[in-house]
Amino acid sequence: MISVRNLSKSFGPNRVLKDLSFDVPQGRTAVLLGRSGSGKSTMLRCLNLLEHWDGGEIEIGGAPLGRSRKPDGQWRPWNSREEAEARQRIGMVFQQFNLFPHMTVLQNVMCGPVRILGEDAAKARPAALALLEQVGLAAKQDAYPAFLSGGQQQRVAIARALAMRPQVLLLDEITSALDPELVGEVLEVVRDLKRSGLTMVCVTHEIHFAQDVADHVIFMEDGQVVEEGPPDTILVEPATERLRKFLTRFHARGGREKAAA
Ligand SMILES: Nc1ncnc2c1ncn2[C@@H]1O[C@H](COP(=O)(O)OP(=O)(O)O)[C@@H](O)[C@H]1O
Ligand SMILES: [Mg+2]
Repeated sequence: MISVRNLSKSFGPNRVLKDLSFDVPQGRTAVLLGRSGSGKSTMLRCLNLLEHWDGGEIEIGGAPLGRSRKPDGQWRPWNSREEAEARQRIGMVFQQFNLFPHMTVLQNVMCGPVRILGEDAAKARPAALALLEQVGLAAKQDAYPAFLSGGQQQRVAIARALAMRPQVLLLDEITSALDPELVGEVLEVVRDLKRSGLTMVCVTHEIHFAQDVADHVIFMEDGQVVEEGPPDTILVEPATERLRKFLTRFHARGGREKAAA
């Protein structure tokens, strides 16, 4: 479903992604794991066309992302309308939930389908309610975000992303801003999505998150893939010294390596 080939990206002199390649098959959940600054968010933002890369290719669902072939066979980059259309098919949820504070929970979930996809409110409303049911928040449909816990807000943010019926869902550190006791309810929603067969790429610096939701873990350092494989293999018996060190450091910090590390 997702194929990343030799992706490179620099910010000025800072090479943030160095020849990065990986694949995520349809219906699988990949977790990009690594310390802060290793390039995980930048990689995810490229998948959502929030960043432009300097070299390499991305394909989603077999089609190139960010460029099309002209009749003469040459490539041309997408214009902003084409990018915006692609972004609708690629959902993204961030550490900070970014809900609209002046809208109720239900309005937050409905607004994408109504305003962007042009759906009738009469159709979007029951669909949004079903999604709120799915994330366990139907009872909060009329509440404003400020009256919800962080865990509840993040579940609304997931429902809002799903309302656009994305082909793939990208999750960037979605539990990192939450109090530990609220992490579980969000993880449960992610596990549920995984069972439903959605293709996801999750970014985290927390090993527990990777252990919990990944089919496939991609350990990144310094803009490169160091090691990848199923969580029960690489998180238990890492093949590289670099991953071994990361795991040891994480456990030594009591399990939550903070973003400042
Ligand atoms: N918009 C930007 N401008 C300049 N540098 C950036 C920008 N975004 C990220 N970086 C740099 O890219 C590197 C990787 O950042 P990031 O992808 O956010 O890593 P991670 O998500 O793994 O913590 C860091 O050195 C960061 O400072
Ligand atoms: Mg990040």
